Amino acid sequence: MSRVAVVGTGYVGLTTAACLARLGHVVCGADVDEEKVVALARGEVSILEDELPELVAEGLASGRLGFVVGAAEAVPDAEFVFLCVPTPQGDDGGADLSHVAAVAREIAPLLAPGTVVVNKSTMPVGSTRLVERILAENGASIDEIGVASNPEFLREGTAVRDFLQPSRVVVGADVPSVAVRVSELYRGVQAPVLVTDPASAEMIKYASNAFLATKISFINAIANLCESLDADVREVALGMGYDPRIGFDFLYAGPGYGGSCFPKDTAALLHTAREAGYDFDLLDGVVTVNARQHERMVQKIRRAAGGDLSGVPVGAWGLTFKANTDDLRDSPAVTIVRRLLEEGAAVRAYDPVAGPAAVEAVPGLDVVEDPYAACAGARVLTVLTEWDELRWLDFDRVRDAMASPTVVDCRNLLDPAGLRRRGFRYEGVGR
Ligand code: UDX
Repeated sequence: MSRVAVVGTGYVGLTTAACLARLGHVVCGADVDEEKVVALARGEVSILEDELPELVAEGLASGRLGFVVGAAEAVPDAEFVFLCVPTPQGDDGGADLSHVAAVAREIAPLLAPGTVVVNKSTMPVGSTRLVERILAENGASIDEIGVASNPEFLREGTAVRDFLQPSRVVVGADVPSVAVRVSELYRGVQAPVLVTDPASAEMIKYASNAFLATKISFINAIANLCESLDADVREVALGMGYDPRIGFDFLYAGPGYGGSCFPKDTAALLHTAREAGYDFDLLDGVVTVNARQHERMVQKIRRAAGGDLSGVPVGAWGLTFKANTDDLRDSPAVTIVRRLLEEGAAVRAYDPVAGPAAVEAVPGLDVVEDPYAACAGARVLTVLTEWDELRWLDFDRVRDAMASPTVVDCRNLLDPAGLRRRGFRYEGVGR
């Protein structure tokens, strides 16, 4: 059992704190947002994340999990300090490390000898050394503390499972004993542990996300070709996936990737490459295909509406960047809906969880609380997020509610044959 401080209680920090408490450690989560801390201390989790509320409640009840305002409260007693503060995209595409630097400056004089500071947030290659330098410059006795990189591979919606049953644990540290201590925090977790140098650990995170983004852009490009060649991308992906060197995952064609990680991390890696003097045109292509894919969905919807969206009622199902999360950050659905509104469409949208947040995020968007209401009077219905519940609706009712039964399914979620039998015009992606 170790005493751990987790600075930042967003998606990554809160999951890290709750899961480390589950593993038996005594964890103090710190955040600058007082209201959030008060809510968390009452067990109120404001994000939609499977199993997380239960884990937070369990941690609070066991006394192994607590929350405080400000890093300074949490750090002095800790043997490990996890940095889980945001690293947003800066104006130049690179990751903005100002929050990380501010926390490092704040905690430097407070660290007890023997403490290990762990970079958990996604930070560019070189950040572990940077944090070490900031700590040293601000009063930490650097010979007596350790610094390590321990990147997260948590998918929103399944973050708790990804933490407790990970595909791997990566620890990057210059000092072997520091790496061993960080690895030991994961005792009880069944996974390979890769101990490496800090730069490699940091690169593993970026390379993994960039590779997954590459898979998605690749299958989207193949999907676009399939459309011209009368092939079905779903069959193609299945046939590819049986090759264990390729695998089935991340070969779902759609509106392009989004969310809080892939767009930001690909941009940051491109920035890193530029600074290193390497022309990473492969990754540039991945990003370009992705942006065009959003636009391609708009074209499909425009075409389905007869070539002009001005004044056309459009129903939209799904607004989050993927299903089973309430996150609208960099959501392709939001990008597409904004473009439809720009072209004069009257968009009425339904999302199972993100409706109220979408009202604020997208001015002019009519958000309703019922999927049938979203398609009432619509000339086109578009599926933008792959929520499972959308597959099981009464499609006779959907057809009767629409002004013209036309579906543009940007997620290949619905059954084309079933819809066509009911009189719909159906268009998917790459099929
Ligand atoms: C991702 C990584 O998977 C995780 O390891 C990392 O640490 C954080 O970023 P997340 O952003 O939660 O997780 O979403 P993920 O499930 O990876 O999906 C990202 C985007 O790709 C979504 O917009 C999703 O709809 C899209 N996607 C995914 C596809 O379009 N096709 C696919 O086949 C898979």
